[in-house]
Amino acid sequence: MDNPRQRKKGRKTVDGTKQKGSSSTKSVDGKQQAQTRSPCVQCLLMFCAVVGVLTAVILILPCPADPQEYSFPDPPKLEGPLAPNTVLSRTERFLEGKVMGPESLVTYKGDLYTGTADGKVLRIRGEEVTLVGRTGTPPCGTYETEPTCGRPLGMRVDSLGNLYIADAYLGLLKMNISTGDHETLIPMDVEVAGHKMMFPNDLAIDRDGVIYLSDSSLTWQRRDVFSLVMEMKPDGRVLRYDTKTKQVRQIMDGISFSNGVELSPDQSYLVVAETSKARILKHHLRGEHAGRTEVLTDNLPGLPDNIRSSSRGGYWVALAATRGTKGPNLMDAIQARAWLKRLIFKVLPMHLVLLAAPQYGLILEIDETGAIVASYHDPEAKGIASGSEIHEHEGHLYIGSYVAKFLGRLALEELDRL
Ligand SMILES: *[C@@H]1O[C@H](CO)[C@@H](O)[C@H](O)[C@H]1NC(C)=O
Repeated sequence: MDNPRQRKKGRKTVDGTKQKGSSSTKSVDGKQQAQTRSPCVQCLLMFCAVVGVLTAVILILPCPADPQEYSFPDPPKLEGPLAPNTVLSRTERFLEGKVMGPESLVTYKGDLYTGTADGKVLRIRGEEVTLVGRTGTPPCGTYETEPTCGRPLGMRVDSLGNLYIADAYLGLLKMNISTGDHETLIPMDVEVAGHKMMFPNDLAIDRDGVIYLSDSSLTWQRRDVFSLVMEMKPDGRVLRYDTKTKQVRQIMDGISFSNGVELSPDQSYLVVAETSKARILKHHLRGEHAGRTEVLTDNLPGLPDNIRSSSRGGYWVALAATRGTKGPNLMDAIQARAWLKRLIFKVLPMHLVLLAAPQYGLILEIDETGAIVASYHDPEAKGIASGSEIHEHEGHLYIGSYVAKFLGRLALEELDRL
């Protein structure tokens, strides 16, 4: 702040000297230097002092996180299956104002179900929305109330009408899809492999009633999700819960924000989104590699959220944010510098980090080998900017978004109109 003021002062002095009308330019320059030297030195000292104090304060401030450096490769070029189009821009805003942040979707007996940011589980029959139940207790809607309100995230349903819900604050729940009555299968205060769950996020259930549940972080809750992404600490994991024996154990750890979980069609492996690292992991459940984890697809053009089977045999991947879709990639540059992240953690509100991500909607379809086979874009983010899940239902894609106040809906025929 001192600098511009000083510059103004300096200019005044020059003007003043000029008005006096000196005989030679040389002498004007000389006079000006002599006249302003002392204020200039003073101001320089002041400036250094202010910078020094600020630096000291920033150095002394404790960092509320332990940010890790991560160097991304350059994001993939938007060509081939990633060539831009406007298909996702044509997404209809279905049920606008009636569903707040619908994250995940299931179909049961022809009806759709979703869980929302106000702690509700909703049944959607045609255009009619009814409340099935709540995971927590109102009030809802603020950072402070979120843990008691509950936040239903990933959902799955079995053929009997048991709705399994990963609630970010209340654990793994089983809800009667007709009555909304529910019980807690894994409460938050149970230690699994030495740690309580911090951020249950998504789940998949196999034919034998075994549930695979992601616990995104040991450090951050859902309401601090930007801190989680920014810190990049690999303390996310996947748990295995057997609904018959009620036993739970950890099967994967060391993941930087474990998120979407889906089973392969033959149930021989699990695909798991590693959100902060923009990649998808493959964890073998059966066969000679059982228990081993490999990277299925790396360097995605964004941060993957939930993953769901596609009717074409692969997987739908919703991207919560994109990388490199609109010019230079600020977020990747930040992630590569731990000192900068420490500084950001100390002095900035974390939600500002969002500003570093381009406003661009993008969903992907990958095949079983992890290759991107199709991508649907919304370059101006008119419809869905942060997709959380893509669910096929009655000839449409229903697109959940944890921030939207509607469900995205897109007829499958639209996908061919590139
Ligand atoms: C849900 O509750 C209804 C009414 O009590 C009951 O008839 C039904 O069997 C329950 N469903 C499940 C999956 O337990």
